[in-house]
This record gives sequence, C-alpha cells and structure tokens, in this order.
Amino acid sequence: MKRMPLFTKCLILFVLLWLFLKFVIGGIISVPLPSSLIAMYLWLIILAILVHVSVEDDRFREFLRPIKETLADESKKVRRTALFVLIPLVMLGFTFSKVSTRADPPAALRTAHPAPPADLTYRDKVIGTSQEVENPFRHLEKDDAEAFRVHVENGRRVYYQNCFFCHGDNLDGKGHFAHGFQPLPANFQDPGIIPNFQESFLFWRISKGGPELPPAATPWDSAMPVWENYLTEEEIWEVILFLSEYTGYRPRTSGEGAH
Ligand code: HEC
Repeated sequence: MKRMPLFTKCLILFVLLWLFLKFVIGGIISVPLPSSLIAMYLWLIILAILVHVSVEDDRFREFLRPIKETLADESKKVRRTALFVLIPLVMLGFTFSKVSTRADPPAALRTAHPAPPADLTYRDKVIGTSQEVENPFRHLEKDDAEAFRVHVENGRRVYYQNCFFCHGDNLDGKGHFAHGFQPLPANFQDPGIIPNFQESFLFWRISKGGPELPPAATPWDSAMPVWENYLTEEEIWEVILFLSEYTGYRPRTSGEGAH
C-alpha cells in the first residue's frame, strides 16, 4: 500500500480535531463554545501542526511536496484547476452566509390573529366577555343616524391623530413609518381583516397592542402601541366605527360562528 502523504495525515488530524471540538465538546458534552473560540483553537492547532512538521528539513519537504506538485506539476493540472475554482467559490459562499441577514420571522410559526382572552378589559376594568361585548355606539347606526355620524367623525379624528403614521392615509397599512416595522402594520383594506373579527377583538388588539399579544402570537416584535394608555374607551370604539365606515367592511357580530 502506498504511504499516505504527510500533508493528508495533517489535514485529517486537523478535521478530526475540529469535529471533536464542535460535536464532542460543543455538542455531546455541551460546553458552550463560541465560534470565535473554536476559530482560535483551530489556529493554534494549525500552528502546532506546522511546528511539528517543520522541525526537520526532510519532514517539512515531504509535507510541502503535495502542495508543490499541485501548484507546478503538469500531471496535476486537473486538481489545480479544480482548486482554483473551488476555493473562491467556498470563500464566496462563506462570505455570503455571513453577510446575508434573514429579517423575516418564520411565517408559519406564529399566529397572526390569536384568540382574544375570555374577558375584555379596558385598563383593569372588565367590560364583559369577548364573545358578547358589542360596540356601544353600533346601535345608533339604525336608531340615530345623526349621533352615529358624530361618533364616526370622532373616530376619524382619533385615526388621523394616532394611527395613520403606521396604518396609512388610506388605511392600507402603508403609513410613513410602516417600512420600519416587522411585522408590517395591519392593512384594513385587506378583506381578510375587519370582516373576520368581532368589534370586541379589534377593541382588544387596539387597547392592548403588541405588548399583550399571547405567547401563541410570538415570536415577533409588534410595534402596535398600547392605546388604552392614551385613548378613552369611547375613542377606541369610535375609531373602530371609522375603520369599518371608511373601508366599507363590517366586523362580524357575535351571532356569526366563532373564528
Ligand atoms: C407605531 C405604529 C402603529 C401605530 C401608530 C398604530 N398601529 Fe396598529 N398595528 C401596528 C402593527 C405593526 C400591527 C401588526 C402587528 C400586530 O397585529 O400587532 C398593528 C396591528 C393593528 C391591529 C390588529 C389587526 C389584526 O389583523 O389583528 C389593529 C386593529 C390596529 N393595529 C389598529 C390600530 C389603531 C386603531 C391605531 C390608532 C389608534 C393604530 N393601530 C396605531 C402598528 C401601529
């Protein structure tokens, strides 16, 4: 059998030590080794190998032989060309994997519209159950059109004072600041939003914002503020009326099957 070249032996030793660090120490024994520390150990290993092969001239020559052959020998042309192509490709892939960032949260892992809690609250006051609470101004739509308009107008004022920065002039989620947020602000022109939820759900989401989303809706960093800190209970119901009037979409009522 042909003797294995010294260079190959050293390469195998290096890879074995690297795998040992990564998967035995870092994996099975699970000592948390940061990659920068592993890199440092690997440099030390390279240094040790170089010291070992270079103490004797003969050994060093033997170690370098495959490298010289690869670089200069006519018979090693294929290997040479392959290396010249592969090395830049590997470096490119490595650089790319370091530079590219993945900002998108994994979409399937979170619930965008989690179920509201059983009790609907404003600050710490219980208003009623999320199933049953209705918008206190909704009945005016039939009973007193004039009063209803006043509440919608109040809602419009609330919206353009507080919400349009993010949710947009046209309620389409394209506000000035929208691009800075992940997830994006809700687009109320999307037929998948308002018609699918009761007004109590919208009240819950507006009053508690991103910070009180339940664990099922994480991981994400919703920028939606906690509006019960800034708006009165009436203002929140009024802005909901405005969302529905402006888009023409009606929220579900408690009678229509659960979502
Ligand atoms: C700082 C930006 C910002 C402002 C201002 C803001 N929102 Fe939001 N809002 C968001 C983001 C981001 C989301 C999407 C993430 C989430 O559901 O929490 C959202 C989600 C919502 C939802 C939930 C929609 C759904 O699909 O479940 C409602 C309702 C809502 N906003 C209403 C409002 C109202 C009403 C106002 C004004 C009183 C307002 N928002 C102001 C950023 C904002």
